[in-house]
This record gives sequence, structure tokens and C-alpha cells, in this order.
Amino acid sequence: MAKNRTSFVCRDCGGTQPKWIGRCPDCGAWDALESFTESAASATSSVGTVAGIALTGSIEGDGGATGVLAKAVPLIEIDQLDVPRIPTEISELDRVLGGGLVPGAVALLGGEPGIGKSTILMQVAASVVGAGRTVLYASSEESPQQIRLRGDRLIGEDLASASELFLCTETNLVRIIEEIRRVKPALVLLDSIQMVYRGDLDAPPGSTTQLRRCCHDLVQVAKITGAAVVVVGHVTKEGQLAGPKLLEHLVDAVLSFEGDREHGHRIIRATKNRFGSTQEIGLFEMTDAGLQEIDEGGIAVEVDGPGISGSILTATMAGTRCLPVEIQALTSTGFLGSAKRRGTGLDSNRLAMLIAVLEKHGGQRLADQDIFAAVTGGIRVVEPAADLALVLAIAGAHHGRAMSRGTVVLGEIGLTGEVRSVRNIEQRLRELARRGATSAIVPSSQAAPSQNLGLEILPVRGIGAALGLLN
Ligand code: TYD
Ligand code: MG
Repeated sequence: MAKNRTSFVCRDCGGTQPKWIGRCPDCGAWDALESFTESAASATSSVGTVAGIALTGSIEGDGGATGVLAKAVPLIEIDQLDVPRIPTEISELDRVLGGGLVPGAVALLGGEPGIGKSTILMQVAASVVGAGRTVLYASSEESPQQIRLRGDRLIGEDLASASELFLCTETNLVRIIEEIRRVKPALVLLDSIQMVYRGDLDAPPGSTTQLRRCCHDLVQVAKITGAAVVVVGHVTKEGQLAGPKLLEHLVDAVLSFEGDREHGHRIIRATKNRFGSTQEIGLFEMTDAGLQEIDEGGIAVEVDGPGISGSILTATMAGTRCLPVEIQALTSTGFLGSAKRRGTGLDSNRLAMLIAVLEKHGGQRLADQDIFAAVTGGIRVVEPAADLALVLAIAGAHHGRAMSRGTVVLGEIGLTGEVRSVRNIEQRLRELARRGATSAIVPSSQAAPSQNLGLEILPVRGIGAALGLLN
């Protein structure tokens, strides 16, 4: 008889080790290895059987875009040129997905508790049902009454006619899969992967073993039935999907819900997308009537009034869109050798590098300063075009010097302190001018394309010249 195999999987990076050790040799995380038992029977289970349930054929209309090809055929004979889609009819979400959910594919939706994951699932369910498709909403977190209450609030009177919207509140994955087989939905929404379990595994819900097996089973179910599946995953306090690499490589798309839970905007971004780009973002605002789509015009920045030290305006590109953003920084005296560096909405490695450049080429003494930097409005800036704005915000905060409010800053910073060009500078400057900016600090290499956009242009070659422009 085949034996069960036990290995140890890192919760953070997904690396597998034959024995338990205190520190993951792949990513260096401490105490992150969890035992993972794979039963020999399940490892060799045939396609068409998931969690002991036989599933056959494509379920509804669209068919499985990622259906199983057991027999090899020449690639050229695959005539499916366009991936069929199930539009969510929520255009900001469809933009991120690349046109809609893909039948037979699994998307993982991650985000902090309270950010709006269950809300958007209900909105997606309503619009997909409204388009005449069957949806199964499987919630392992909330009671049927709670979900009905949310449904009433978000869908209102249309809920009465949404007879093809099915709900199950089950935590046993095998039973959820049975319901998928019975209801034959075009779309399955599972809230959340951390709460479901397979009874045959000797591990609690949310553990590495359960997460991996349950997600794997759902991927198989999607492939076999042709249903599109959206799975909610909670993020850990570090802002990562729990067991990030464990699940990321299993699914077809990873969407992350970002933003400030208390107020501000909600942004959905694809960090992985097998059927579309990962450049676009979806912009939302949480209101009494659920998540409302907004466009870039809905992102407000303050360009009037006196300059504030530690605050600089810039613009960031998100796909084809240009968002005006405010970068803020604060410095305070800390301990030499153990000063804190914290970035919200910023890449922490980039922040550390820019502080080093500021010390070396900007002549600033920051070794004993705690430095906090943030992007306002819950937006994440993941491109180097905001480097110069961040550096000026930190230096301004440190010296109590400000940039006049109407002055915006664009530029990437190199390791030698030079200010380098940024892409789409004209689009960014045009957007900032439209918002009321009056002057712009730009890389000297881009002084020419920056002219005639209605802004006074202040070209700078290096970080030292830019620091000299702080008042
Ligand atoms: P929820 O979608 O439950 O968050 P998650 O599933 O990510 O944990 O809801 C997030 C918050 O949004 C919750 O605190 C209540 C609020 N909310 C609204 O402001 N308006 C609404 O219409 C709904 C449904 C929720
Ligand atoms: Mg929820």
C-alpha cells in the first residue's frame, strides 16, 4: 500500500524541506515551517475526481477555457483565440481582470479584514446573476442571515428576482464541491479559503496542508466544471496573503484589495493575471450602498494654501491612468544604530535606499532619525518616479522646510544621486496642471518635453540641486 508523505512547507515562501528546522533556508523566516502531509492516494487521483467526488463535463454555457487536455494536440490546432469571459459588469473590476472572470479559472482575492471583500463578492454575484447566469456563494465565515442582510442592502429589490443566486454556508470543502455539482453555477464565490477544510486531512483549517489541498481541489473543480471561481484569502499582518506563495502559484489570478479601511479609497490590483495585464487598477469608494466605482478624478489632492514641510505632491501611473498623490514624511530623533524606517504604501527597500542616497549625496545626517513615510489616500506607489518627491518630503520634514503647495515633483533617483527621467512625464504634468499645480521640478533630461504644459519648469540634474529648492 502506498504511504503518506510528510514534508515541511514554509508558510511565507512555500519552500519545501524534508525535515523541520527553525529557520526556512529559502527565505530566512523563523518558525515558519509547517508539516504538510500528502496522501499517496490523493496525489495520484485521476482528473475528474476531486475530494473523492467524480465530476464530469463542462457545466454551463461558456465551457471551460482552461479545460483539461489529456491527449497532446499540436498547439496550432487549439482554435480558441479569444478567452471567453464572464463580465462582472463592474467596469473597474473588469478592467483589472482584463475583461471579466474566466470560466475554468480561479482568482484569489486578498485583503485585510473589513476592506470590502465580502461586499464586492455580493456585488459581483448580483450582477452576474442579473446577466442570466447561475452563481453559488459559499460562505464559511458568516451566517445566512448576515449574508441576506448584506444582499438586501446591496441588491435591494432586485434580490427578489435573483433566483439563480445560491448560498451555502459550509466549511467542509467536500460538501461545497457537492453543491457545485448540484447547482452547476457559472461562477463560484468562496469566502474564505482559510476557513474551509477537508476532513480527511489531519490539520486545522487555515494550516498550510489545508490551504494547499483545498485550493488545489478548487482549481481542479474549476477546470473540470468550467466554472469561474473567486476565492477570498485573508492577509497576514505583514500585508501578505496568508501562505502567499503557497496559493499564488496554484491560482490563475491574484487580486489584492488595498486601501485605508477607515476612509479613503479602495484599490483592486492584480499581482498575477494569466489572462490579462497586471498594470491596471480598479478604483472604488466604500459607501452606504456598497463599493462605488470612481475614476481618477475622484482622487483629490490639495494644491492650494501654504507649503507644509514633509509633504510633496507628485503623480503616479497605474496602468494607463495617472493618479495625483501626496507623499508625506516625518522624522524624529531615535537611537543611533536602531533608527526606525517605516513606509506605508511605499516599497520599504526603496525607502532604505533613498535614505542612504540622501545621506551620501544630499549631505543629510539621518542615522539617528526615525523616518516614517506614507502615501495618502490608501494608494500604493510602486514606481521609482516618486523617488525625488519622497526624498524632498524626508529632507523637508527633517529641516522644517517646505515646497510651495503648487509645486509638484517628478524624478527617479539613481545611486549616485542623479535625477533620472520618468516615463509618461507629459501625461503626469498635464494631469497635475489640470489639478491646479503651478510649477514642477523635473529631471533636467526632460526639461524640453515638460515645456508648454502650463507649468513653470524647474529642471534639476542631481539631488543636491533639488534640495536647494526647498524653502
Ligand atoms: P466587508 O465586505 O465585510 O469586509 P471584508 O469581507 O473584507 O472583511 O465590509 C467592510 C466594511 O464595509 C464593513 O465594516 C462595513 C462596510 N460597509 C459599508 O460601508 N457599506 C456597505 O454597503 C457594506 C455592505 C459594508
Ligand atoms: Mg468578509
